[in-house]
Amino acid sequence: MAGMILMTEATLMTEASPAPAKPHLPDAQTVTQVTHWTDRLFSFRVTRPASLRFRSGEFVMIGLMGDNGKPLLRAYSIASPAWDEELEFYSIKVPDGPLTSRLQHIKVGDEIILRPKPVGTLVHDALLPGSRLWFLATGTGFAPFASLLREPETWEKYGQVIMMHTCREVAELEYGRKLVESLKDDPLIGELVGDKLHYYPTTTREASPLMGRITDNLTSGKVFADLGLSPMNPEEDRAMVCGSLAFNHDVKAVLEKFGLHEGANSEPLEFVVEKAFVGDGI
Ligand SMILES: Cc1cc2nc3c(=O)[nH]c(=O)nc-3n(C[C@H](O)[C@H](O)[C@H](O)COP(=O)(O)OP(=O)(O)OC[C@H]3O[C@@H](n4cnc5c(N)ncnc54)[C@H](O)[C@@H]3O)c2cc1C
Ligand SMILES: NC(=O)c1ccc[n+]([C@@H]2O[C@H](COP(=O)([O-])OP(=O)(O)OC[C@H]3O[C@@H](n4cnc5c(N)ncnc54)[C@H](OP(=O)(O)O)[C@@H]3O)[C@@H](O)[C@H]2O)c1
Repeated sequence: MAGMILMTEATLMTEASPAPAKPHLPDAQTVTQVTHWTDRLFSFRVTRPASLRFRSGEFVMIGLMGDNGKPLLRAYSIASPAWDEELEFYSIKVPDGPLTSRLQHIKVGDEIILRPKPVGTLVHDALLPGSRLWFLATGTGFAPFASLLREPETWEKYGQVIMMHTCREVAELEYGRKLVESLKDDPLIGELVGDKLHYYPTTTREASPLMGRITDNLTSGKVFADLGLSPMNPEEDRAMVCGSLAFNHDVKAVLEKFGLHEGANSEPLEFVVEKAFVGDGI
């Protein structure tokens, strides 16, 4: 009798078994949320590979399968903190960009490719201890700071954190503004943040309460006067920079004038820099 049941099950299994092979991306993760902020900017969340460990501020390679059957990958800062069970990204939409012309259309349930090899210089380990930490970002360069602002170590290590974010237009600041506003209600870090955060969002091509390039607001001393802070000095201040190549170049010169030196993972010093993108025109 038992043999008969087994035979029947075996027969059924054999009849049902040749299911069509589901196409499966290598290193696939599933999209869980998509938010469009402007016609040029969106953010999305994906599942996190169980094995992925990273330091808040690092970046990974993500992408989609190209038409040629090969993965089409680009560098992306992880915008979520290291403790989050999902991964968040904040992205540009380049109209004819090989990746983002397609990536901007992803929906919940879609799969993306995510290579689980995080790297980067915008990490706490690459800075010497200090008392004030400056996050300096233009455009999507805000992404690594979306991670670091939600990282408890940021608030445990520093007495004051100054987030300067500059975009051309007001709407481009919205993702960062919402994230900064949410910090005080965050169950994990709300209390740690306390009154340590100074948020300084500016625009350069549309009127808003605070205006001007980060470089100009540092050089003129406007940001120090507006926030009631003393000027930067290498004993107290540490900085992390993320923007276009031109911005990174110019802000580096400004920080050096204040006496700060550029460090790296291998040699922690007073500031670190990462590119938000390569190239200078869409
Ligand atoms: C270390 C690193 C981290 C990065 N992190 C992010 C991130 O978190 N979010 C993100 O959107 N991009 C990020 N980028 C840029 C990203 O790798 C891609 O360039 C971007 O997704 C566009 O891809 P694409 O294939 O559509 O166009 P690409 O061929 O890669 O780029 C086409 C052109 O678009 C412009 N461009 C590309 N990216 C941006 C951008 N972010 N902002 C403004 N102009 C841009 C440049 O002029 C570039 O020459 C990062 C790049 C580096 C090097
Ligand atoms: N943002 C848009 O609405 C828009 C629309 C279409 C196409 N694009 C193209 O997209 C590309 C990226 O645009 P983006 O706005 O994301 O980035 P971006 O050109 O790097 O500008 C982002 C912010 O950084 C400032 N900035 C640029 N260079 C700087 C420097 N050397 N020092 C200090 N501050 C600096 C800009 O000020 P300034 O305004 O003073 O330059 C702006 O406020 C550009 O090639 C642009 O032509 C942008």
